[in-house]
Amino acid sequence: MADKKPFYITTPIYYVNDIPHLGHTYTSIACDVMARFKTLDGYDVKFLTGTDEHGLKVYQAASKAGVDTQAFVDKVSQNFRDIQPLMNLSNDDFIRTTEPRHIKAAQGIWNKLVEAGDIYLDKYSGWYAMRDEAYYGEDELTDVDGKKVAPSGAECEWVEEESYFFRLSAWREKLLAFYEAHPDFVQPEGRYNEVKSFVSGELRDLSISRTTFDWGVPVPGNDKHVMYVWIDALTNYITALGYPDTEAPDYKKFWPADYHVVGKDILRFHAVYWPAFLMAAGLEPPQCVFAHGWWTIEGQKMSKSLGNAISPHDLVERYGVDASRYFLMRHVPFGNDGNFAHEDAVNRINSDLANSLGNLAQRTLSMIHKNCDGQIPHPGEFLEADKNLLDHAQSRTLPGLRRQFDKFMIHRALEDVMHLVNEANTYIDHQAPWTLKKEDPERMKTVLYVLAETIRCLGLMMLPITPDSASKMLDQLKIPADARDFSAVSADSAIPGGTPIDKPEGIFPRIVEEEQQQAAG
Ligand code: MSP
Repeated sequence: MADKKPFYITTPIYYVNDIPHLGHTYTSIACDVMARFKTLDGYDVKFLTGTDEHGLKVYQAASKAGVDTQAFVDKVSQNFRDIQPLMNLSNDDFIRTTEPRHIKAAQGIWNKLVEAGDIYLDKYSGWYAMRDEAYYGEDELTDVDGKKVAPSGAECEWVEEESYFFRLSAWREKLLAFYEAHPDFVQPEGRYNEVKSFVSGELRDLSISRTTFDWGVPVPGNDKHVMYVWIDALTNYITALGYPDTEAPDYKKFWPADYHVVGKDILRFHAVYWPAFLMAAGLEPPQCVFAHGWWTIEGQKMSKSLGNAISPHDLVERYGVDASRYFLMRHVPFGNDGNFAHEDAVNRINSDLANSLGNLAQRTLSMIHKNCDGQIPHPGEFLEADKNLLDHAQSRTLPGLRRQFDKFMIHRALEDVMHLVNEANTYIDHQAPWTLKKEDPERMKTVLYVLAETIRCLGLMMLPITPDSASKMLDQLKIPADARDFSAVSADSAIPGGTPIDKPEGIFPRIVEEEQQQAAG
């Protein structure tokens, strides 16, 4: 629809030298939750994810596997694509940097940078760590058995290589002015200060081509060189909009992106190099780069050698899709580091989803089904307590969620939703509809109506986080498809009395540990 506001959000594109793990899944889910929230709130959303398939690391991974590089990237990229149905991601494009549309875009931006005079050919000499695909300064190295070793532990060799350079140093003042003018460009705020202080120091020109291997986008006009993987990778965000055609409808509609969501380790590429490339090419920088933190697993760094990585498949198997999504979003303030502990996940899922929200829905709908002829009752006059809960559900919660989502504070938004759930549970305990059944059946109907209406609003507001379960809640209330967006979180769309419902089934299962099962059985 023409009058919808556009909203464009991206995940990083994932390297295909690894299999998908919790870290990748986390970024993708956070973006998905935001994308769904905005869609439900009436925006025209574009949500992009994909894979980063060039560069030395990928080339080496393929060689190690003894497979043709293209066949290797096809296979591993598919592993990332498979997360989409598995985790219920709503991305509407999946980009691969080996696609022709992307090669065209990467070469397109390169040509713009050449035209602008921001690329020059020179010689690079320095200490190069093949493993890290990075150069190090002499002062960063230590001597180990006569070898130069980088802080990462990688061995370095002295390399002299012809290389193209991007005149990053020339963009220092403009970048600083840009940050000043856009204080929300990097979030959270601590990261913004980090980026500013990095750029305030000395900015060296950036080597942006390689001649030592050829698994990359060829530099236009000089086939000896392939582009440095980061200039290639960052461009994906505009490839997907039709770049180099800046008149393409998607480019015009969605650029500049609202959010690039990235891990803190790749913030510099997104918040320094990328806006510099874009400004040099005469394009606008994105509106916000949000850097989230890193997960450890049971207190330890996730690593291949420890074999402790959690895959998205593990998550789904252990907790289910929606509960995993909920836990990851609820447990850690977005932007902070976090630790994944199985015990925390079980406790959180059981207490918030199974006991609080799930029970509320199950208790209410069972009582309605049993005591109100299987129909949502017609309410009588609302008392103060009823009006309070209805107002909280229909009017007060959503504006707060919007404020939290505008800052990407999803965990806070979930706290607000749970606050409403708790209030509804307190209400049901105070009103005690099971007692009213005998004492005042008309009043019982009003109370159950208020609860059903609260559950309807909760179902709508949980759609971004737990899409399947929230949809089931709405199915149970027989809410039509065209009344399932945030415009329906309002008294005007309140559930009509007389709506027939089926016998409800529990939606959020409790996670029962094996030991507990054995003890019980
Ligand atoms: N290919 C680059 C990104 C290019 S974007 C133009 C890349 N890929 S990656 O696969 O190595 O990492 C992708 C994302 O996963 C990064 O944002 C990184 O921060 C995130 N994570 C990797 N391990 C992580 C954790 N343990 N915890 C949270 N996120 C982590 O970098």
